[in-house]
Amino acid sequence: MADLKVNYLGIELKNPIVVGANNMVYDLDKLKKMEEAGAAAIVFKSLFEEQIMLERLQMDDRLSEYDERNAEMVKLFPKMEHAGPEEYLMKLRMAVNALNIPVIASLNCVNKETWVDYAKKIEDMGVAGIEMNMYNIPADSLNAPDNIINDQIANVKAVCEAVSVPVSVKLSPFSSNALYLIHEFENAGAKGVIMFNRLFQPDIDIENQKMTFSDYTSHPEDNRIPLRYSGLLYGKVKSSIIANSGIHQGEDVIKMILAGADAVQVVSTLYKNKIEHIGTMLTDIEKWMDEKGYNNIHDFQGKLSQKYVDDPFAYKRAQYVDILMKSEDIFKKHPMV
Ligand SMILES: Cc1cc2nc3c(=O)[nH]c(=O)nc-3n(C[C@H](O)[C@H](O)[C@H](O)COP(=O)(O)O)c2cc1C
Repeated sequence: MADLKVNYLGIELKNPIVVGANNMVYDLDKLKKMEEAGAAAIVFKSLFEEQIMLERLQMDDRLSEYDERNAEMVKLFPKMEHAGPEEYLMKLRMAVNALNIPVIASLNCVNKETWVDYAKKIEDMGVAGIEMNMYNIPADSLNAPDNIINDQIANVKAVCEAVSVPVSVKLSPFSSNALYLIHEFENAGAKGVIMFNRLFQPDIDIENQKMTFSDYTSHPEDNRIPLRYSGLLYGKVKSSIIANSGIHQGEDVIKMILAGADAVQVVSTLYKNKIEHIGTMLTDIEKWMDEKGYNNIHDFQGKLSQKYVDDPFAYKRAQYVDILMKSEDIFKKHPMV
């Protein structure tokens, strides 16, 4: 039987499937189901600075500072008004006590003081690690990218210095150089990087001319970006590489590990295929490893990373140019009428 153990932020996990932050984690029965289905660890729902501010400011005008983040937070956190930071911490502690697998907390703040203050409070709940959810939508054209990046690096450093549990950073897919950021976060003390957060994108209903908030879950094709970055990072960073977005089946997990990821986080597939699907994914991974003669994850991790892949340009722009130059092949496959 294949050994699925992996290292996640320095913690040994029994397999590479971690449940990412989502709303189901508030339900202890669902948490137990995730553990029973075979999840190696759980990331608890993020605590957002807005929740902390709601309590501190009691909905006063200063909340408008958070306007552009509010939509996402409210949508992802529908019971926000009932979930102040104290209640959140209590639920987090209950989850830690109820499960035998590691529980990692997730924090999403704005100000350095809040990051540090709540990272410490969260650590006191007995979590195995802290995930810094770096959610940032550019809403101010005067805020130079350097400011945003330097703030993020300073926040990671401050949190890593303040707590003793391992800290990881969950990145947005939109940045001018995610690889630079990952190196800087690692230098600041982060032990892992989660690629990537799925940002909440509003839509427009043209019939009723209003904003809509459609299904937030991912599609399998969304896993190409984490696949690429896992392949680019393998062998170049000390941090754990955690692929996230569009990982729905066991075969997607295998792909991520072949590219170089240490582990994956899954959420949408649990909403779409039920929590028990974790068991099916694990069985599929084991079956594939047995068929291919792999005894453990390290036997094939990074085999198709940029470091080892036969085609040195597979992860570079050159391949993209090549595909465009051969566009007649694409037209042959999809002839235009
Ligand atoms: C209902 C829902 C709630 C989520 N809440 C959070 C959250 O609180 N913090 C966070 O970092 N990510 C949150 N996410 C994002 C997921 O953790 C994950 O990064 C994203 O869904 C991509 O993974 P997937 O393709 O497996 O769904 C949420 C996702 C969903 C669907």
